[in-house]
Amino acid sequence: MTTLTHYLQFTDLNADEYTYLFERAALIKKKFKAYEKHHPLVDRTLAMIFEKASTRTRVSFEAGMYQLGGSVVHLTTGDSQLGRAEPIEDSAKVISRMTDLVMIRTYEQAKIERFAANSRVPVINGLTNEYHPCQILADIFTFIEHRGSIQGKTVAWVGDGNNMANTWLQAASLLGFKVHVSTPRGYEVDEKLAAGAHGISADSYQFFSDPMEACQGADLVTTDVWTSMGYEAENEARRLAFADWCVDTEMMAAAQPDALFMHCLPAHRGEEVEADVIDGPQSVVWDEAENRMHVQKALMEYLLLGKLA
Ligand code: CP
Ligand code: NVA
Repeated sequence: MTTLTHYLQFTDLNADEYTYLFERAALIKKKFKAYEKHHPLVDRTLAMIFEKASTRTRVSFEAGMYQLGGSVVHLTTGDSQLGRAEPIEDSAKVISRMTDLVMIRTYEQAKIERFAANSRVPVINGLTNEYHPCQILADIFTFIEHRGSIQGKTVAWVGDGNNMANTWLQAASLLGFKVHVSTPRGYEVDEKLAAGAHGISADSYQFFSDPMEACQGADLVTTDVWTSMGYEAENEARRLAFADWCVDTEMMAAAQPDALFMHCLPAHRGEEVEADVIDGPQSVVWDEAENRMHVQKALMEYLLLGKLA
């Protein structure tokens, strides 16, 4: 690939590229399950920068890169000069001269954009306050595996208007499905943010003040923590505000009979979701977590090598 493609938000790729990535992820997953070697990224190195905690993102990128034949360097704010105020631009120039790909989990989206603007290699968003594109990539792949195309379907988002909600809205506009959003007052999705550089189409998004109504007829019900990383000071206020935004069996019953339940994890049973739902028969959260690795392998391969036959 001659041009440098970053993956900073879901709208950085188009619908055709997503079709390719979902097919490629399925093939890569099949090879992984068959213990078949797949080493397109031999001698390539991924730098992973974590300014927030992680289990899934760390393991899926690290294991995934090794499985592709490459290697990884793991950096955190605490053990690098990033935590000692080295300018992000300088860090980007240095890190991208020694590695082939960079994944960053940080706070403001602006920070990852500044890094990318100074990087010689593709940069992947591993979660910011505003977006979590790799997670939605995995979620849609998981939906396709279980139910086929997501086009024309309805996703119910119950909870915070956070990075996950923003990214769902971007995906809906791009891939042609609907999101029914229900958030408590004061925690709504910021439409400008969700729109990113491309805008969200009005017919892909509908707001409901009642979470039960948002779930009516949905093909997928999904939620996330009440308090995202970086917002811990608001924890008590959020516990009060979100009390009615717990996905329970009644909400699942309002959705389609074959509706799936997803949660990006980590989850808090008894808060944003009842144990009977997340541990129940409609939940696909473990497939969803595993699929992070398969889709990100397809993504890393694509950003470095382009479309492969
Ligand atoms: N879903 C997700 O991104 O999980 P981690 O915070 O464990 O990486
Ligand atoms: N919205 C959550 C997702 C965690 C994977 C957060 O940002 O903390």
